[in-house]
Amino acid sequence: MTTDFDALARPEIRALTPYASARALADSAGILLNANENPFPSPGDPGQGLNRYPEPQPPVLRRRLAEMYEVDEDRLLITRGSDEGIDLLIRVFCAPGDPVLVMPPCFGMYALSAQVQGATVVEAPLVEQEGDFEPPADLVERAAGCKIAFLCSPNNPTGNTLTPELVDSVCRAMDGRGLVVVDEAYVEFQAAPSFTRRMRRHGNLVVLRTLSKAHSLAGCRLGSVIADPAVIGLLRRIIAPYPLPTPTVNTALSALTPDALAAQAKSLATLADEKQRLVESLRKTDWISAMWPGEANFVLVRVPDAAALIEAAADAGIRLRNQSAQPGLDNCVRISVGAPAENDALIEFLGRWRPANQRTETPP
Ligand SMILES: Cc1ncc(COP(=O)(O)O)c(C=O)c1O
Repeated sequence: MTTDFDALARPEIRALTPYASARALADSAGILLNANENPFPSPGDPGQGLNRYPEPQPPVLRRRLAEMYEVDEDRLLITRGSDEGIDLLIRVFCAPGDPVLVMPPCFGMYALSAQVQGATVVEAPLVEQEGDFEPPADLVERAAGCKIAFLCSPNNPTGNTLTPELVDSVCRAMDGRGLVVVDEAYVEFQAAPSFTRRMRRHGNLVVLRTLSKAHSLAGCRLGSVIADPAVIGLLRRIIAPYPLPTPTVNTALSALTPDALAAQAKSLATLADEKQRLVESLRKTDWISAMWPGEANFVLVRVPDAAALIEAAADAGIRLRNQSAQPGLDNCVRISVGAPAENDALIEFLGRWRPANQRTETPP
């Protein structure tokens, strides 16, 4: 079945007249007196023409990203990180009360954006099974009635990945009725290819990519929504007029040249080696009762007292992330893989710290 995305979108979104920015109405050639800009560059501008509004969707960057992700340009919307993509999808497609599926433990912005919109969050919690986290057996049934299902592969914070067969089944169950959004923030760290390859098969499949992780550009705020052109058209109706700051666009273009990508690949290889080293060290730490290395740039561990560990690590100048508030992750801590010296510091700290019940008290 082909999905009628217009019918799936909120009627208010279909009905509104999108804001037409000066840059959307006319290109930036000639004498620019159409956007109330200041013609004089700022003394603080490092020569980037920041007195001018940027292109809403810079064609050169869009082409480059589409090439890199191996998708057609008209299937790609550049956003301020995946966070904005998640928010746009929910605002376009979900009316208050519409069901949005999430699979906790997972990235918190799916549920938060849904709640802000008044949508109903439907949980399909992952199940801890044989040392891994697995989707629940009834995932497809739970997703079937939802407007959007947020899947994440590799998942944050558990690092588990989803099989193509399962994603296919969810897409089929929601065909014509809802969108399946696969968040691939960490996909570059895994061996398996992106789910973008399955988009020809499933019109309702949406993939989120970001430059924040493997591309080392979290500070740039640059992500991509990859979807059917009709979905992209609907998202464009409500995206901010100028979402992409000129310095962000320029930095992204510099980071995506073939030379820059080759250099980045070396740093990813270093990160993979470092992860291996960290995992081996964590495995030898006797008070760590469980570890999920996963397929991303972080490791999840279970410890006797997560809060105590986080506090002691902070005292040693190391910030770790407590995941205990997530369902099924009692006393679990997420550790991002750092640079070699940072991992050395962590390994040294873990080697000398003991949980309270293992400390040998020195008599007064
Ligand atoms: C699974 C997942 N999706 C999306 C994001 C946010 O990505 P961005 O920086 O592109 O907004 C994160 C950030 O940690 C994440 O873990």
